[in-house]
Amino acid sequence: MDYEEHIQRVERRKAALKVELSVSLEGLSSIVLEIGCGHGHWLTDYAAKHSSQFCVGIDVIRDRIDRSNRKAARAGLSNIRFIKVEAGEFLESLPEGVAIESVFVLFPDPWPKKRHWKNRIMNSDFLDSLANRCKENACLHFRTDHEEYFEWTQEVLPSLGSWHLASGVEWPFERETVFQAKVDFYQSMILEKT
Ligand SMILES: C[S@@+](CC[C@H](N)C(=O)[O-])C[C@H]1O[C@@H](n2cnc3c(N)ncnc32)[C@H](O)[C@@H]1O
Repeated sequence: MDYEEHIQRVERRKAALKVELSVSLEGLSSIVLEIGCGHGHWLTDYAAKHSSQFCVGIDVIRDRIDRSNRKAARAGLSNIRFIKVEAGEFLESLPEGVAIESVFVLFPDPWPKKRHWKNRIMNSDFLDSLANRCKENACLHFRTDHEEYFEWTQEVLPSLGSWHLASGVEWPFERETVFQAKVDFYQSMILEKT
């Protein structure tokens, strides 16, 4: 595939994504977003307990999204969708009238090598873009078993104009994720949109 073909393919994918999101989110003004939803257990149970909210789970792995949608269908839920999309492309394609009211990033890939840190989802450029699509006072819930990633995120925070550490906000919903079940230790952080 030459460069021109690659660009055309990306443009077609983005156009199809915009259509998918405008159909899936039609009539909604706000959503709860889980980035890197994996097999969808956590968000499916969250949606079952929060029927007044519309939940969207995204992941880049097709098989995980298909399984998640089957799980939500078996549970008979109408307030949830799982979509195969990369987080940055999701924000670019989210319909204008839809704001994010709450975000969950649970056990994201830690990218332990320094040269890969730019791939971490909790990076300042992505967090700024995310805040731009969030409602006032929206909270971002981050949980990881990777101590260095947690500290790295704490260090990124002061340079961010878009988020600050939330005070007096409790973790809103507990349900073990697939990755959480594999670890003995994890840390959680809640950020509030500035
Ligand atoms: C370590 S797994 C955690 C899955 C789940 N949250 C859990 O705790 O079991 C990270 C997930 O994030 C997804 N992911 C990684 N980068 C992503 C991105 N930029 N946008 C959307 N999903 C992403 C991966 O495909 C993977 O399913």
